[in-house]
Amino acid sequence: MTMGKAPRITIEDLSLAFRTGTGPFVALDRVSFDIAPGSFVSVVGPSGCGKSTLLKLLSGVYSPTSGRILFDGKPVEKERLQGQVGYVFQRALLLPWRTALQNVMLTMEVARRSMTRAQREAEALKWLEIAGLKGFEHRFPHELSGGMQQRVSICRALAFRPQILLMDEPFGALDEITRETLQNELLQLWQQTETTVVFITHSIPEAVILSEQIVVMSARPGRVVERINVPFPRPRVDSVREHPDFVEMAGHIRSLLHPRAHAIAAE
Ligand SMILES: Nc1ncnc2c1ncn2[C@@H]1O[C@H](COP(=O)(O)OP(=O)(O)O)[C@@H](O)[C@H]1O
Ligand SMILES: [Mg+2]
Repeated sequence: MTMGKAPRITIEDLSLAFRTGTGPFVALDRVSFDIAPGSFVSVVGPSGCGKSTLLKLLSGVYSPTSGRILFDGKPVEKERLQGQVGYVFQRALLLPWRTALQNVMLTMEVARRSMTRAQREAEALKWLEIAGLKGFEHRFPHELSGGMQQRVSICRALAFRPQILLMDEPFGALDEITRETLQNELLQLWQQTETTVVFITHSIPEAVILSEQIVVMSARPGRVVERINVPFPRPRVDSVREHPDFVEMAGHIRSLLHPRAHAIAAE
């Protein structure tokens, strides 16, 4: 299941001010970072710091007030962004009248018209199997748990073979155990692809287990506080979570996100 090679993405001094009734509201302030082709990047930050806004800039829904997004060093048009990104949201947003299999095939029907129906079906079944949904292909969304629905929506996004997959707190509505299972499955799915993933989360351990790079943001206006490279080798197994380096990195990110609480604790 190979895909077109993802570009190197350079986010350069990206700012966005929304026009509001009381004047411009700066949601993102000169955000810069680089995303290596095919890598997994997480963005963590407090609620309202502009994470979803950043994804909307990366998908071409919004245009920046200033700054730019480069693909392999060249500025990209909004239209090009729109054709190359897949999106997964906190809610699975499946079509209720289509089965799991038919939901996964949906994006292929639109974006991969050169394939025959049988080819689409075979590929959709393959994605569902890797996501642990063998036996549930013909269930409708209401017959699936929340975690299963989210697996289907991830398969649907990957079946479109986007160069970039944008995930906006995709596991935020799930319980802790389902969440950890899905993290492992997402890594397995992603390893079959050359897709670059930009993943938004509130969960620090989630960011550390999944990512090559973590971008930590501050609130109001949204700025990059630190970019952290995560060196743990892949495939990452659950025992990484107990490794002292993992615990230390999570603690460091926590101190960046809650500077005051940390200062008090240290007093
Ligand atoms: N369309 C909009 N118009 C005005 N303000 C907006 C709009 N969208 C988001 N905002 C504001 O921009 C800030 C960042 O929003 P958002 O990117 O959704 O944050 P996050 O996803 O990190 O919680 C918030 O303060 C939000 O209220
Ligand atoms: Mg958001």
